[in-house]
Amino acid sequence: METVQFDVAIVGAGGAGLRAAIALAQTDPKLRIALISKVYPMRSHTCAAEGGAAGVIKADDSFDMHFDDTVGGGDWLSDQDCVEYFVKEAPKELTQLEHWGCPWNREPDGSVAVRPFGGMKKQRTWFAADKSGFHILHTLFQTTLQFPSITRFDEYFALDLLVDDGRCQGLTAMEMRSGMIKQFSAKAVIICGGGAGRMFPFSTNGAIKTGDGMALAYRAGVPLKDMEFVQYHPTGLPNTGSLLTEACRGEGGVLLNKHGRRYLQDYGMGPETPLGKPQLKTMELGPRDRVSQAYWHEVQKGNTVTTEWGECVLLDMRHLGEKYIDERLPLVRELAIAYLGVDIVKDAVPIRPVVHYMMGGISTNTEAATTLPGLFAAGECACVSLNGANRLGSNSLVELLVFGKSAAMSAIKHLQNLPPANAAALEARAQESQARIRGLFSRTDGTESMSGLRKEMMDTMETHAGIYRTEAGLQEAVDKIAELRHRYQKVVLHDRSNVFNTDLFQVLELGSMLDCASALTVGALARKESRGAHQRLDYVERDDNNFLRHSMVYHQGLDAPRVDYLDVVITRSPPGVRDYSGGHK
Ligand code: FUM
Repeated sequence: METVQFDVAIVGAGGAGLRAAIALAQTDPKLRIALISKVYPMRSHTCAAEGGAAGVIKADDSFDMHFDDTVGGGDWLSDQDCVEYFVKEAPKELTQLEHWGCPWNREPDGSVAVRPFGGMKKQRTWFAADKSGFHILHTLFQTTLQFPSITRFDEYFALDLLVDDGRCQGLTAMEMRSGMIKQFSAKAVIICGGGAGRMFPFSTNGAIKTGDGMALAYRAGVPLKDMEFVQYHPTGLPNTGSLLTEACRGEGGVLLNKHGRRYLQDYGMGPETPLGKPQLKTMELGPRDRVSQAYWHEVQKGNTVTTEWGECVLLDMRHLGEKYIDERLPLVRELAIAYLGVDIVKDAVPIRPVVHYMMGGISTNTEAATTLPGLFAAGECACVSLNGANRLGSNSLVELLVFGKSAAMSAIKHLQNLPPANAAALEARAQESQARIRGLFSRTDGTESMSGLRKEMMDTMETHAGIYRTEAGLQEAVDKIAELRHRYQKVVLHDRSNVFNTDLFQVLELGSMLDCASALTVGALARKESRGAHQRLDYVERDDNNFLRHSMVYHQGLDAPRVDYLDVVITRSPPGVRDYSGGHK
């Protein structure tokens, strides 16, 4: 097996991975940096982000207000030291992006424009029309190109971390076009592999978001934190699940039930306000968990519109007018026309909540370090405990910048005074990893189909781990996912070729998703309370006495995972009531 030597290997080349690479290269030009991704960087899912990125910039705003919105929005499950750090770093990172060429929208006076976003009680979301993720990713990618110390390994699939002497010292990855496995020896590894929304059948997530990075760390003994908190974005196209950005509502779009009523006023998010632009009162700008839950109640009451894709509510933006829509929401107009045949200038568009984001992930501290020395993580794959039980829209694009950089700085610290690597031991680990993959190719007793297992997993998650959950449903999900993990041991690989073996990659991705689904459902069953995006019909109240704690789920091979808990860090905001009745200013 070919071995390549680096100081730091980064897994994932989306926003967090690229930001980490830039910070490493800028801080120490001598560092040898490997940037490994299963897709070309510009195909990373950051590209799909639409609405914008939050950071205090206007005179009427403050770090304290951004802190309060984030902590309250997260239903007090955020670590407050982490939030304090984040809100201060956010504007610096967004300004840095500006200097690297990110084309933020402007106010008429030339200053950076911001728009309202859900759960943010001040306007602080920087944006580039409704293609913010595309522009951020492009800005970061083009910036990395100036650093010769960054070596890209595009279309390499990460397989296993190499752990020896109690620390992470690299990984194995397969070159997808040849099937060759390489050993990446690295003194530190940063995982920036994105989320795992594809466990669910209806998701805004690109097909690549299969939790591979989370599974890498989890199998190496690092706990997954707060996995039970899954964000439903309130406004997805009902057929494809494509995101219609929260900016639709930030700019003044309204949600209507089948009677034409702005129903959010019935769920503590009123009072109804006149139509206007931009929309400045809470209503449609409630936090995502609450707005998605309101949809569920409208379905129960029979207030939704029945469509061929299921029960929907209507997102009405007609009053914004064509000129404004084309300036601020061009992609939304394009998506609704292309996939649903609805022109938002002329008609309200049917929408329904769709799985969008994992609040949980690889447990890290505010320095983006995991419990395994030498392993760091940032972006959606990580749970640094910024978002608590419910992330506010537009915090995540900044999260990947702030903590992508933190991961790089922590990795650099870790590199100091390391003992020499045991090359033979690392090679042995790499050989074990290769043998695991060869085992898939040589299996003769396979009986299970990848697509069959994947469908059963997705159906289980959709039915039992959605917006509202119950003990019986979650128990069924835990049992079913355990069964599927066992049956996965007999999955058949139909394609035995080496060149772009997509069958193999889908089998590997399914393994990652099953591990994530197992951690998620076990964590959800154990959390006997309702908080943020985790709503139990049988435990309807938040229970701060017992669950003001992060769940920490540990991998135990094919046995059931072990759940432990870690106290939430409270610095200055004791748990309180989430109040969205007062409106934004
Ligand atoms: O609605 C959106 O544009 C999504 C933003 C986010 O998830 O932060």
